[in-house]
Amino acid sequence: MAKAVIAIHGGAGAITRAAMSAEKEQHFRQQLAAIVSAGQQILASGGSALDAVTEAVRLLEECPLFNAGRGAVFTHQSTHELDASLMDGRTLDIGAVAGVSRIRNPVLAARKVLEASPHVLFIGSGAEAFAAQQGLTPVEPDFFSTPERWEQLQRALGSEQMLLDHDGAAQESDPLDPDRKFGTVGAVALDLQGNLAAATSTGGMTNKQAGRVGDSPLAGAGCYANNATVAVSCTGTGEVFIRTLAAYDVSAQMEYGGRSLQQATASVIHDKVQELEGSGGLIAVDAHGNVALPFNSEGMYRGFAYVGGEVEVAIYRDS
Ligand code: GLY
Repeated sequence: MAKAVIAIHGGAGAITRAAMSAEKEQHFRQQLAAIVSAGQQILASGGSALDAVTEAVRLLEECPLFNAGRGAVFTHQSTHELDASLMDGRTLDIGAVAGVSRIRNPVLAARKVLEASPHVLFIGSGAEAFAAQQGLTPVEPDFFSTPERWEQLQRALGSEQMLLDHDGAAQESDPLDPDRKFGTVGAVALDLQGNLAAATSTGGMTNKQAGRVGDSPLAGAGCYANNATVAVSCTGTGEVFIRTLAAYDVSAQMEYGGRSLQQATASVIHDKVQELEGSGGLIAVDAHGNVALPFNSEGMYRGFAYVGGEVEVAIYRDS
């Protein structure tokens, strides 16, 4: 029987203890642990890896601490444009949506694309129409807005910067450096049947131009799963993760290069992404249930649990 396991991330960036209040840190850790635990329970009851990652990412989208779903960042035009993808390692089926602003849970729309469409990726209003046809209740775009993200956009506009991913608020208490935050969320899992799956969801980058799409909805870049090798979900500088085909490169290094999970994931994050001056990380689980959570930023919100094991969560490099 497979060693069933789920891992999640809530983004990577310049996360420092100095800038994190004890209360805020506890809140992040509680949220991460609860979401890992929810995925773990699905796997423990015989649920599929696909169901576990879908539910974990849906819960991350529902939590405004993270840059996906409610709490998503603003574009330069003060709108929200969300991206998500999902991949089934058993069939290599993919579902993805990009540039949506009226779908409460983009990962559920991606799941509908995977299950109910011959296509792989829908964008914008077409994606929203498809989701509505599939029974997902639409929301108004301001459903995603939070005061923290609005302030973050104002700061970015003031400094004429484009802030990466779910760049946070400017307050000193904010756990992430305002200029270096990567707020994508994701989950990877191996189920008791030996199937792998991955899911990724994001609001993108604060102050991004409307129409800009990052790696998160692109299978092979921000998300990949193949039962023969590995399931991967990425967070970080989207353009670099696209240019390096980061998620697929982990799989390719394992399949064609005979590399271990630890070697392949370290190579992608610490060599390939780093060489192009990208920042961020990834979570990965291989077909044997090994887990890797590498990142080249100061921290990454992350957690994992084996079925029957303890829930582990971490934020900083050491814990
Ligand atoms: N990594 C998410 C993005 O760049 O949009």
